Amino acid sequence: MKRIVINKADIQTMNLSSLMCNIHGDYWDRFQPKAREHYRLLVNITRQFEASNFLDLGTSHGGSAFSMATSLEGKRPNTVVSIDIDDARFRQNKRNISLFTFPKNIIFDLRDAKKIHPEFYSNFQVIMIDITHNGEDERTIYDNICKSDFSGLLIMDDIDYKHKFPKLKEYWQSIEATKFELDYCHISGTGLIPFKGIDLVIT
Ligand SMILES: C[S@@+](CC[C@H](N)C(=O)[O-])C[C@H]1O[C@@H](n2cnc3c(N)ncnc32)[C@H](O)[C@@H]1O
Repeated sequence: MKRIVINKADIQTMNLSSLMCNIHGDYWDRFQPKAREHYRLLVNITRQFEASNFLDLGTSHGGSAFSMATSLEGKRPNTVVSIDIDDARFRQNKRNISLFTFPKNIIFDLRDAKKIHPEFYSNFQVIMIDITHNGEDERTIYDNICKSDFSGLLIMDDIDYKHKFPKLKEYWQSIEATKFELDYCHISGTGLIPFKGIDLVIT
């Protein structure tokens, strides 16, 4: 059983100064303690692993991919696979990210996450879903993950953005698995579902 501890104070006080040189000034604001983004949470969770594999669905700016790839010094590095359906969007957004030095432990992949075979999900210890937010796409992916042998932590972004993504909120609420919501990282809510093998402790 892998224990993951999430503590608000730890997330807010984490010293990320070693990452500073890799993040462009404008983007750095998103990593500040009061930023109301999910990036510090992702750094905090993924640094509790070593030599593990993480899946980032929805690359866009690469903020999530970057956050999941910042292994702690002294620990064996993790690997991130980051998938997006839209190459043009990624290339455009890369203006922001190419100013980051992307760590070598991120593999970018262009494809439709809805078409990922369930077996693929079994390879990962953390999966982050941040795609269309229409509820239907997230349902397809979640159902496929449930068909797999995934034994890790599933993170879903924006699950409480009722004005912008009401269908995603509705879908999130319909999920019957044991689940947790954080309201202090991303302003629009972050959902967490520990699959088998994960002991999630929120303090
Ligand atoms: C909100 S953005 C992701 C933000 C990103 N996690 C970050 O932190 O910068 C959503 C991304 O999901 C991608 N997307 C939408 N549907 C997708 C699908 N079916 N498969 C893969 N990517 C998809 C979009 O092209 C878009 O770049």
